[in-house]
Amino acid sequence: MNRKYRKTIIAGNWKMNKTPSQTKEFMNEFKSMMPKGRWCDVAFCVPAVCIPAAVRAMRETRVGIGAENCNANASGAYTGEIAANMLVDAGCKYVIVGHSERRAMGETDMDVNAKVKAALQAELIPILCVGESLEQRELGLMEDWISMQIKSGLNGIGEDKIRKVVIAYEPIWAIGTGKTATPDQAEDVCRNIRTVIRKLYGAKIARAVSILYGGSMNEKNAHDLLAQPDIDGGLIGGASLVPAKMVEIIHAANQPTD
Ligand code: PGA
Repeated sequence: MNRKYRKTIIAGNWKMNKTPSQTKEFMNEFKSMMPKGRWCDVAFCVPAVCIPAAVRAMRETRVGIGAENCNANASGAYTGEIAANMLVDAGCKYVIVGHSERRAMGETDMDVNAKVKAALQAELIPILCVGESLEQRELGLMEDWISMQIKSGLNGIGEDKIRKVVIAYEPIWAIGTGKTATPDQAEDVCRNIRTVIRKLYGAKIARAVSILYGGSMNEKNAHDLLAQPDIDGGLIGGASLVPAKMVEIIHAANQPTD
């Protein structure tokens, strides 16, 4: 983390878990345990039907609510889809874009780029996810692959908008597997992502963009991961479903840094 130049963000990704009633229960419990005083930005990205309950429960707090996906179009004949401006109107501040689980369902880099643009247009903060498979890592393709995902995800996004984008590095082999990247492995990739952003937008902007790590981050390993200079927070799946674990991770994000 480097709090001088950029925000620290701890974001939950609930995936397809919890009903609206369970959301209300969770948020009330979480609220009662939330650390007092100054702390990092906190967000919960929840299933679309849980957004109203989450927004209502967190209204008077600094916790932001987000969605897990959006459509790239503003409106129209897209049965079952949700537009970015609908999410804003429902009270969302964030949207996850390009999660590997959605890419596995057929989302392309062009789709992801269009969604990032749609989110920014609607004034939602996109959390752009990138990450390599184990095979790509073992074949030495990781750096090029992630650089390509970043370049295509940010294609056509100007300097005025890039500051609103949050990047999440999520190695596919670490998601939901209990296999976390070591702090050094995660730092290496997050540093490379910042280098790619520096080449695209310059040093000042690269220094200001928050880059999160995701993939089996939990209350036990968060401290060491977040101590790395280029890891500015976490995108947390499994552990974000348990209030006490999220609170511990937020405490880890409040550790002193230079
Ligand atoms: P995990 O999920 O923490 O359960 O590995 C992270 C994510 O997919 O965002």
